[in-house]
Amino acid sequence: MNFEIVNGKAAKIETGCLIVAVEANASLSPTATALDKTSKGYISDLIETGDITGKAGELVLLHKLPGVAARRVLLVGVGTSEERKDRHYRKLIKAVDATLSKSGISQVVFALDGLASASDDVYRQTRLLVEWVSTDFYQYDTTKSKKADAIKLEQISILLSDKDTELGESALLDGVAIANGVNTARELGNLPGNICTPSYLAERAIALAEEFDSIEVEILDEEAMGELGMNSLLSVGKGSAEPSRLIVIKYSGDDSGSDPHVLVGKGITFDTGGISLKPGAGMDEMKFDMCGAASVIGTAEAIAEMQLPINVVVIVAAAENMPSDRASKPGDVVTTMSGQTVEILNTDAEGRLVLCDALTYAKRFNPASVVDVATLTGACIIALGHHATGLMSNNEELADSLLQAGDYASDRAWPLPLWDDYQELLDSNFADIANIGGRSAGTITAGCFLSRFTKEYRWAHLDIAGVAWNSNGKEKGATGRCVPLLSQYLVNLVEAAE
Ligand code: BES
Ligand code: MN
Ligand code: ZN
Repeated sequence: MNFEIVNGKAAKIETGCLIVAVEANASLSPTATALDKTSKGYISDLIETGDITGKAGELVLLHKLPGVAARRVLLVGVGTSEERKDRHYRKLIKAVDATLSKSGISQVVFALDGLASASDDVYRQTRLLVEWVSTDFYQYDTTKSKKADAIKLEQISILLSDKDTELGESALLDGVAIANGVNTARELGNLPGNICTPSYLAERAIALAEEFDSIEVEILDEEAMGELGMNSLLSVGKGSAEPSRLIVIKYSGDDSGSDPHVLVGKGITFDTGGISLKPGAGMDEMKFDMCGAASVIGTAEAIAEMQLPINVVVIVAAAENMPSDRASKPGDVVTTMSGQTVEILNTDAEGRLVLCDALTYAKRFNPASVVDVATLTGACIIALGHHATGLMSNNEELADSLLQAGDYASDRAWPLPLWDDYQELLDSNFADIANIGGRSAGTITAGCFLSRFTKEYRWAHLDIAGVAWNSNGKEKGATGRCVPLLSQYLVNLVEAAE
């Protein structure tokens, strides 16, 4: 699939399909107006007969419009401009992509005017379009014997005015890079637990280092982690035949030696719950418990492709959580790398146990900021549903940058408090900290647990339990969230430094 920006008169563009917006009050976008004129009122005629209303979601495919060079014109109803939010733009692109994918058209031109959400940010509109089209055409077939049909759509052009071309071109490059990161994260998430093991994630990181000169990778095995005192992380993988790994990916984009921003991902390649075994129904979905890891690896790929002038260290804490005679038991106490002891009251609260040691390890990079990403708590789905990532932080400025990045990238997060009031829920009679805080405020107490290990730097925690994958039917699969948010956060940091 290849993207490009094109200019010129819409009516003269030769293409398989020209995609054009029509508003609900039947008011035509500038491009639609031009086509209407060239075709001697063909479109306004259809409006008059009621064949086109412009209501959101309407799709009308016209063939051989008189005087128009494009083979087809796809009119897209976009509703009224005040109701055009990101979610409408997203829905509409999805509908267009479904139509294109059925039709087998190989070449299309999107006339962006009037199509996107109501805002004049051409960079953003173009980038989101590129991201969404690229990710809509992702198909998982790695573990199917019958491979998916090749995608027929080859060339996607975006029609912009001359003055917007430069901006559009940079949006296009960034959009392709971020989409590739998203699709990598989805692929890793979708792979089953018997393939996507901690060692497999390590191999994928090594492959990234082979692809990009700006990336170096270091893999710590169980012995190396033992020497560092990562007993909490190691306790999680103890019951599994799959060895745990700490994966460290160093992206060097700024040679002035600035302190790196650190991203930490939860990489539980399968979460049975351990001895505190999960119920059987839907347990297959716990293969997605490494989606935090997938999103930080995907982000590393995206920023390397964008060649962002910034330094970033990605740390993945990878383990498989299994019950066995060697597994941790409820009541076991472990000493974390930080020296603090933890009572493991529930072996299913394993994410925080691997993250705490990775967060302690992060200190050695003298980080400018640390953001961890994890499918950490089912409670986050109860709090925020499947729309927003849960955000907790010890630094308001950092929290605001992440919220803002999420808004801009259409990959939103929402804040939850980390007040001291919640901390005592983690009191234990037998260790410094308990690994669970009871039934109430489960997402926050998980955040509080992590906060005990992040006092020495600016830190934020993203709980992606509700957004990392879809559970429903044909849509079942990893989403690649929050690669767009994280990539945008880093892009913004670069812009702020310039
Ligand atoms: N990976 C799960 C969280 C999860 C559950 C994400 C369902 C998405 C869907 C995590 O390791 C876990 O099991 N958390 C427990 C914590 C509890 C024992 C305090 C949970 O949320 O039930
Ligand atoms: Mn668990
Ligand atoms: Zn888990």
